[in-house]
Amino acid sequence: MSDQSALVLPALRTCPYAPPAEYQELREQAPISRVTLPTGRTAWALTRHEDIRAMLTDPRFSSDRTDPRYPVMVEGQQKVAADFRPSLISMDAPEHGPARRAVVGEFTVRRMNELKPRIQEIVDEHIDAMLAGPQPVDLVQALSLPVPSLVICELLGVPYADHDFFQSRSTELLRRTNSTEQRVRARDDLRSYLDKLITEKEREPGDDLLSRQILKQRESGEAQHETAEARHEDLVGLAFLLLIAGHETTANMISLGTLALLEHPEDAAALREDPSKTLGAVEELLRYYTIVEFATSRLATADVELGGVLIREGEGVVTLAVSGNHDPDVFDRPEELNIERGARNHVAFGFGAHQCLGQNLARLELQIVFDTLLRRIPGLKSGVPTDELPFKDDSNIYGLYEFPVTW
Ligand code: HEM
Repeated sequence: MSDQSALVLPALRTCPYAPPAEYQELREQAPISRVTLPTGRTAWALTRHEDIRAMLTDPRFSSDRTDPRYPVMVEGQQKVAADFRPSLISMDAPEHGPARRAVVGEFTVRRMNELKPRIQEIVDEHIDAMLAGPQPVDLVQALSLPVPSLVICELLGVPYADHDFFQSRSTELLRRTNSTEQRVRARDDLRSYLDKLITEKEREPGDDLLSRQILKQRESGEAQHETAEARHEDLVGLAFLLLIAGHETTANMISLGTLALLEHPEDAAALREDPSKTLGAVEELLRYYTIVEFATSRLATADVELGGVLIREGEGVVTLAVSGNHDPDVFDRPEELNIERGARNHVAFGFGAHQCLGQNLARLELQIVFDTLLRRIPGLKSGVPTDELPFKDDSNIYGLYEFPVTW
């Protein structure tokens, strides 16, 4: 095989909703190739939908981000992840299953439907404020960030009054271009904040997800002779993950999804007329943008043959999910936004054991936001040409830093 490690990740998107041309080339010419990571190390990159799904369901690939051989995307990432008990996303079998089962009941479709009226209220209040204020409005600050942040805060039992603090720290943490020191500082700030919060809840549990986990783990942990300190650290790790995963991702999808609907007025009109189509549109928007590009990397723990290629024990694998979601073998005319295509088989939420725990919540939030926005502000338009919008090219999660809108 020729030296295909020449491609250095990440390649940048020239169009916000298409994979970088380099990924498409790989998918066509050498779908499982060696690439160079930003750290200078090499790894395998998967570009085909089929290979991505096969790898993510194969238990011989590990999620352990603390293993020095894990293919991190940012120099110093291991330092950022160090001294921290790995939460779900970094766990393997046999620990991962029980840890996930302990919390999955909080995110079922039924539980999410119970949250529906409150999410609708939050969205309406924020749209009221947009309508009452001057224009242009930055959609990111007015709607995209506060809605999922408020929802996850109320669910977890984190005071929303602190949102400026944790939003700034999580943005710092996810920005690839920040130094390791900046990212470690952001992690430590957030960690001490959650450490204190959980200590308070341990003393006086409330009616929220973290308190319920404290009570649950107290029971099961005592049965397994786990120390109170270990249980506490586990919870800090879980709270950290849920708080970051629960607002950054959905916030970026709200901004980008709104942009796509503004650029496709015929789709916006179709959803306005028949909101039962919105859930399908949400799946398609998730596929179209695939905002989480590298979270689903893995480490081979054995020699594995995948798609005709031998991946050796100790080698890293990164999934270029945006390429998998634009794989023409699976999605006809993948470059087109087609809200009727039925895109639920996308890999934007990952696949397999680690598939996004919060996906039902994310779907519901996106559905309510798009429906309400289209209904209540039918004249919504972008305040600047798309090519002047500040896209998050330097972040581990794609999105928009700002999105001025008018109506
Ligand atoms: C549009 C929104 C979202 C996207 C695109 C997204 C994407 C993803 C992806 C790709 C993974 C897989 C990581 C891997 O395989 O290593 C993941 C895992 C996860 N997500 Fe999400 N996510 C979203 C929203 C949320 C929300 C709202 C929450 C929490 C309330 C959440 C919590 C999690 C957790 C806890 C995991 C780890 C699950 C595990 O390892 O078992 N996500 N997400």
